[in-house]
Amino acid sequence: MDFQHVLQKAYNYGMLYKERGVTASYIPELAKEDKSRAGATLISPDGTVYEVGDSHYKFSIQSIVKVIIYLCVLECYDFDYIKRFVGVKPSAKPFNSIIELELSNKNIPVNPFINAGAIVSTALLQEKYGNNTFDFILNRTRDLINNDKLDYSRSIYHSESSCAYANRALTYMLLNDNIIPPHIDVDDLLNTYFKACSILVDSVDLANLSFILSRDGKNLAGEEILSPKHAKILRTIMATCGTYDYSGDFAIRVGIPAKSGVGGGIVTASKSGYGIGVYCPGLDSHGNSYVGMRMLRSIAQDLELNIY
Ligand code: DON
Repeated sequence: MDFQHVLQKAYNYGMLYKERGVTASYIPELAKEDKSRAGATLISPDGTVYEVGDSHYKFSIQSIVKVIIYLCVLECYDFDYIKRFVGVKPSAKPFNSIIELELSNKNIPVNPFINAGAIVSTALLQEKYGNNTFDFILNRTRDLINNDKLDYSRSIYHSESSCAYANRALTYMLLNDNIIPPHIDVDDLLNTYFKACSILVDSVDLANLSFILSRDGKNLAGEEILSPKHAKILRTIMATCGTYDYSGDFAIRVGIPAKSGVGGGIVTASKSGYGIGVYCPGLDSHGNSYVGMRMLRSIAQDLELNIY
């Protein structure tokens, strides 16, 4: 199989749509990104890395970090205990929906990948790690991606923090409904979450994360970076909730478990052992990279990665 050709073809196809997406204007720093910049990285099951376009361009991980935050929670607490605070059901509303939280059973966020669910997950970590919570998340991200240079963007963090009105509203509702304990400091909690969302990655980093998730938590040398049990839970929630209220369409159009972020990245987790990460900052109305999704569709077709 000519993997470089598969990747180039996907890039060419995706770029036909580069005018269609819209950058995330609700975080002013992200609105400045160039919609014609795209990149993709594919790691074949033998560990060879193939790249196309701006594969080394750094962008903020945004909601993709919710996979890592939830993994940290799974590594700290029992699954049934976690479900008292955050569920594993698909969402029917946008990722920052307030009404979804109001309508959910006992006001528990339906899953860890919507904003409310990720904020609750961060609060669970804060209970355990206090002021070190962000460092803990950053270090776990570095381990999983195998890149100890990863850091967060101060400008994106400040940009989001300065106008995160919906996330603040969600957090106060969670406090009001006793999903988050009253002693938690809201600013500390949200600052941790915003810093985590601002971690800078490129498509190679995402492909490395994807490679580990796709191989049941093991790296190429066979070392266990996360447990197979947790890798399986993450792949499952990525399949059902990873692209929010678009997850059903994504399953039909692409057919690989994936998680998107409003920074423009998408990471996949196909059980077949491939690592795939894509980037392009123009988003569809659900907050998923418009070009990125099309690149993935092309790759999934050519490599027959559709799990359904
Ligand atoms: O909390 C937010 O709104 C952002 N930091 C992350 C949202 C996001 O990436 C949604 N994903 N597609």
